[in-house]
Amino acid sequence: MNIAGSLCVVSGASSGIGRACALELAQRQAQVVLVARREAVLEDLARQIRAAGGQAWAFPADLSQPEEAQRLGQQVLHRLGPPHILIHSAGAGAWRFLEETPFEEIPRLMAVPYFAAAYLTRAFLPAMLAQNRGFILSVCSPASRLAWPGATGYVAARWALQGLTEALRADLYPTRLRVCAFFPGQIRDSEYFSRNPGSLERIPRIGRLIPTITARQAALGIVRAIELEARICFVPWPLYLFDRVAHWLPRLAEHLAWSTGARRTSP
Ligand SMILES: NC(=O)c1ccc[n+]([C@@H]2O[C@H](COP(=O)([O-])OP(=O)(O)OC[C@H]3O[C@@H](n4cnc5c(N)ncnc54)[C@H](OP(=O)(O)O)[C@@H]3O)[C@@H](O)[C@H]2O)c1
Repeated sequence: MNIAGSLCVVSGASSGIGRACALELAQRQAQVVLVARREAVLEDLARQIRAAGGQAWAFPADLSQPEEAQRLGQQVLHRLGPPHILIHSAGAGAWRFLEETPFEEIPRLMAVPYFAAAYLTRAFLPAMLAQNRGFILSVCSPASRLAWPGATGYVAARWALQGLTEALRADLYPTRLRVCAFFPGQIRDSEYFSRNPGSLERIPRIGRLIPTITARQAALGIVRAIELEARICFVPWPLYLFDRVAHWLPRLAEHLAWSTGARRTSP
């Protein structure tokens, strides 16, 4: 799919993978719609992109709220038209065992990324279907390929996001809309772990065998996935080897995740 000249909506554009992705797409002459909650941060990024000769607009919205996603969709369609590329990179949620998770946090863990991606896709899908051309990419997590301990709500929400992505691919099979599940490894320069304290320590030690990447490397992988219209993509590539081990030797993979993963501090 051609990036130059396309209209791209990027959620989670105020930091991490979404921000890096917005910069890479703008550099390739895409028009970029920046979505997240922090308006000032999005405005700064839009200015930075415009100063470099690109085109970008800040559209702040809390995507955990269906009415905000719907309003955002209407505003973008009215001002700019239907997007060609939709990137779901908004994500949040601390890693906790279920019994450590306050009841009120359980729906919040599902809200972003899962409901956010469902609402945002719903807001644009009729117009994208009418255009019958486009690409939808979800930034998923290796957690939805192999669950690890101590992050129950996080893992479940990423399985939901992957499920949504695959269900959309099935729905859109006869159309010219393509759908991609993108799996990055650990990002060493994103805000994710500082915004969700206590999570970084819970990455299973076996994960250290996979090199960490920068948000820009993840964004370059996303650009390549769009250009190749990939249906699934892992960055860095050793993550794919782990994925295959988890697929073919699930008991071994479960044992490694458990034996090198987080332990309960109390029984
Ligand atoms: N970081 C990693 O190592 C890693 C590895 C694999 C997969 N992932 C997955 O990739 C996704 C993005 O991670 P990241 O590292 O880029 O995280 P990040 O730097 O924390 O960025 C998360 C983005 O989501 C936005 N967001 C959060 N809640 C929102 C809401 N209610 N409405 C709209 N936007 C919202 C945040 O912006 P505002 O706060 O301004 O709203 C921010 O732009 C996550 O789902 C994560 O699980 C991350």
